[in-house]
Amino acid sequence: MSTDIKSYIRTIPDFPKEGIMFRDVTTLFSDPRGFRMAVDQIVQPFAGQRIDQVVGLEARGFILGGAVAHQLSAGFVPVRKKGKLPGKRLSEDYTLEYGQETVEIHEDAFQPGEKVLLVDDLLATGGTAEAGIRLIERLGGDIVGCAFVIDLPDIGGRARLEQLGMDVHCLCE
Ligand code: PRP
Ligand code: ADE
Repeated sequence: MSTDIKSYIRTIPDFPKEGIMFRDVTTLFSDPRGFRMAVDQIVQPFAGQRIDQVVGLEARGFILGGAVAHQLSAGFVPVRKKGKLPGKRLSEDYTLEYGQETVEIHEDAFQPGEKVLLVDDLLATGGTAEAGIRLIERLGGDIVGCAFVIDLPDIGGRARLEQLGMDVHCLCE
């Protein structure tokens, strides 16, 4: 667990709704040292393991996931908000800390049995990640881990994913 990563993350109160302390990773991503550190630390536990696909969750998971996939010599698969993917797709509904959403994946995004690493910037309720996990599992993917920059431990997402049997890695709380 890194304390350094935290210093790059900005907190904006009352966004997008009153009472939400929004953890803003744009300040981490725009710092060359911070961004490299985040990507390197996400990759580190999986270096040397077979990872066929990195699945990134829209939108901030795309920024991290592309860089992580490149470093692991893996493919990248987007899980997108409803209505954005052009091909045949599977959908999952979920509840957020501040709303309701649906995410989708292309039904031919990868082959059954492929080794998948799920990546996103932040774990709050775990609803988004669980929807991503359900999509990956419906396609027969073998999830080797779920990696996030930030865990909000009071909200319980990590425990929720661990109860599903996931190997969860977070860089800071
Ligand atoms: C944020 C964050 C995660 C999700 C975490 O995305 O990037 O994907 O919320 O919350 P949860 O653990 O309670 O599901 P958001 O839905 O705000 O979308 P964005 O990245 O497109 O802004
Ligand atoms: N997604 C869900 N909760 C969040 C928070 N507190 N900050 C940033 N993104 C979030």
